[in-house]
Amino acid sequence: MSEVHAPAVGIHDLALATTHHVLTHEALAAAKGIDPGKYRVGLGQDEFSVAAPDEDTVTLAAAAALPLLERSGTDGIRTLLLATESGIDQAKSAGVFVHRLLGLPSAVRVVELKQACYAGTAALQLALGIVARDPAQKVLVIASDIARYDLDSAGEPTQGAAAVAFLVTADPAILAIDPVSGVHSADVGDFWRPNDRSTPVVDGKLSIRAYLDALGGAWRDHQARGGVPLAEVSRFLYHQPFTRMAEKAHKHLAGLGGIAYDPAQIASGLVYNRRLGNGYTASLYAGLAALLDHEDDLAGQRVGLFSYGSGAVSEFFTGVVQPGYRERRRVAEHAAALDARVPVDVATYRALHASAERGSAEDYELPRVTRAPFRFAGVTARTRRYE
Ligand code: HMG
Repeated sequence: MSEVHAPAVGIHDLALATTHHVLTHEALAAAKGIDPGKYRVGLGQDEFSVAAPDEDTVTLAAAAALPLLERSGTDGIRTLLLATESGIDQAKSAGVFVHRLLGLPSAVRVVELKQACYAGTAALQLALGIVARDPAQKVLVIASDIARYDLDSAGEPTQGAAAVAFLVTADPAILAIDPVSGVHSADVGDFWRPNDRSTPVVDGKLSIRAYLDALGGAWRDHQARGGVPLAEVSRFLYHQPFTRMAEKAHKHLAGLGGIAYDPAQIASGLVYNRRLGNGYTASLYAGLAALLDHEDDLAGQRVGLFSYGSGAVSEFFTGVVQPGYRERRRVAEHAAALDARVPVDVATYRALHASAERGSAEDYELPRVTRAPFRFAGVTARTRRYE
């Protein structure tokens, strides 16, 4: 009897979206009277995305997913998984709004996933399982987040926003995900957001230690399960709350795995995050978009990915870049999304930050600001309206 091989499963297409506005770290540092080197070098950040009043997790998610559907339609998509920690409802999935905005068929299951920044990877793993069971199906995964911290807190310069949509299929054109992955969970109080708060409670120093501990734990599990040694991985992508964290992480992992620390193994993956800020669930996948967009000879190369969600759940896994990846890239579109952002001054940014607190008790209409394909128009009878 001939051996039956399961098809490769992984990421077939991928697109990034971000907000209408941007704030430079130079402006933020000047307003606070601190050395901009702390942000540029110490955190590894140049600027961060700031949402317009008529943008939210839903509009960013729909904007990221639209190019995927324009390229290959909706055939085969029976599942939409939306990962976020900046959701807009405690019961209804933000994905249901996205499902309507995108005109997806009714024969699609829709669900929202939450575990801080890790949820995008949870969605990817669920999607891989669905496709492995029925290779005719495709799963639309969207990681979408707006990272907000309290004004004047230590976390403030690590805000940001991004959405990354990807299509998980059999025989993927971009990244075939290897079957072995390493996971690590521990109940840690490093970052959480109680139901009565719109910004997180954070122990920043603990969060960095917890992230590095989790990286070690996930990588050791990966190795114990027969994962490839680090020497066989050519590029590394890390969850990037700020890009300097990826540098710390890679140094830590290189030390654990006995390889030399080589900044070239992470450099391309940092390019977008330096300008987006923390995209929470989208951050790791914005790193993947940046890597693919900035290197031309990755075909056949193995990439290691580390996903970390405070609280804390993490995963280390690998994938192989596929020969056709260059044709599916969106280099110009991603550059345009970043370059088109309208800069705001610090006073405007602070006013936008405060206006995002608005609840659902009163009806309101929002002025049209965003140029994105979808917008949040306001609230009527406690219902969010999207156009
Ligand atoms: P801080 O205390 O303001 O900064 O907070 P610092 O004093 O630690 O300085 C940061 C770095 O800048 C240091 O370098 C300084 O030396 C350097 P390091 O010690 O790390 O090598 N520095 C300078 N460099 C050059 N020129 C200068 C200068 N001055 C100082 N003039 C912190 C930093 C990250 C803690 C804060 O921003 C924070 O709390 N951020 C939010 C939490 C966070 O991002 N944690 C990361 C790990 S947890 C995670 O990734 C999960 C998360 O995404 C949430 C989720 O899962 O949903 C956050």
